[in-house]
Amino acid sequence: MTKVNEDLFNTQKSEKFVSKLIDIINFGALNLMISIGYRTELFDVMSEIDPAGSETIAQKAGLNERYVREWLGSMVTGGIVDYDPVEKHYHLPPEHAAWLTRAATPDNIAVTTQWFSVLASVEDKILDCFKNGGGLSYSEYNRFHEVMADESRQTVIVPLIDQLLPLAGDIIEKLKSGINVLDLGCGSGLALVEMAKIFPNSNFTGYDLSQDAVKTGTDNARELGLRNIVLKAMDISKIEDREQYDFITTFDAVHDQAKPDVVLKNIYNALKPDGTYFMQDIAGSSFVEKNMDHPIGSFLYTISCLHCMSVSLCQDGKGLGAMWGKELAVDMLKDAGFTNIELKELPHDPMNYYYIVRK
Ligand SMILES: C[S@@+](CC[C@H](N)C(=O)[O-])C[C@H]1O[C@@H](n2cnc3c(N)ncnc32)[C@H](O)[C@@H]1O
Repeated sequence: MTKVNEDLFNTQKSEKFVSKLIDIINFGALNLMISIGYRTELFDVMSEIDPAGSETIAQKAGLNERYVREWLGSMVTGGIVDYDPVEKHYHLPPEHAAWLTRAATPDNIAVTTQWFSVLASVEDKILDCFKNGGGLSYSEYNRFHEVMADESRQTVIVPLIDQLLPLAGDIIEKLKSGINVLDLGCGSGLALVEMAKIFPNSNFTGYDLSQDAVKTGTDNARELGLRNIVLKAMDISKIEDREQYDFITTFDAVHDQAKPDVVLKNIYNALKPDGTYFMQDIAGSSFVEKNMDHPIGSFLYTISCLHCMSVSLCQDGKGLGAMWGKELAVDMLKDAGFTNIELKELPHDPMNYYYIVRK
């Protein structure tokens, strides 16, 4: 045990810290239960009914009453659901439902709570990485692509046309007239499918390592009858396209690359001389001391350590991590050959920076 110099030990500081730790335990528990509330659709059900008993709520949600009642106990003691002990009625106030239901998209914060069970699914293997180095592959994470697509629906798809694309100047006009677009690390291709629907004169190509994610996107595009989109399973550090695309996008897909420097160079080579590269990547500084006021700094370093950095290290990669930061990002874009780099931010989006990049 560490020897404590009692003269220097600040009891008040220590007591304040232990109550913070107790808050963390309660908040961690609530995070898991909010994720369950999202996946079972309990929040959606509760937002649509009057205050009700656990039996009614369970019956409307098609769930087991005993589990629902225990979940409600956690929600009530956590201040998320209101409780009337006389009537034994539970109520999700509209002010809370505004951040927890599918109807609240893109403000449904319950979606993001799912990450912790995704990350916890690899805790034992990550412990091994702490001891021996190396990393884990995407396929080792339970539900990664499903949760990523859920998150993208909120952070990319909803704001794509009205907020994200206008950051890149007159790109909407060009998309309307007809251009070639490439999205790298496209996952299940949600952003491309959305653009392909809206801009029938443009052609859309997407590459991602994951065969499963590419299949999900391809099936989705086929169901919608889209003929202007192709998704391929491909390692983007190996593409050899030359000056083919007017608009290249990466959504949250550079920092976790094994070879981000090679990928950025490939993007430079694939872009036409007057083309635009749109890079959405995690907001933050490359210096931890400059992230002290980041509203979700701990969350981002955690997801980085347990996922983004690890999937890169697994391939003997650079392991930049999600918090590679704007300073390093700009240096790497310059090293790839780009000379014109603008960093933009959107109000109410503490998660991302938007780099508008030209040759
Ligand atoms: C954080 S996810 C983002 C997915 C998608 N852009 C979105 O916003 O939903 C990063 C994606 O990059 C893909 N990826 C990682 N390394 C890759 C590589 N070398 N070649 C192609 N795709 C890669 C992963 O499979 C994953 O789908």
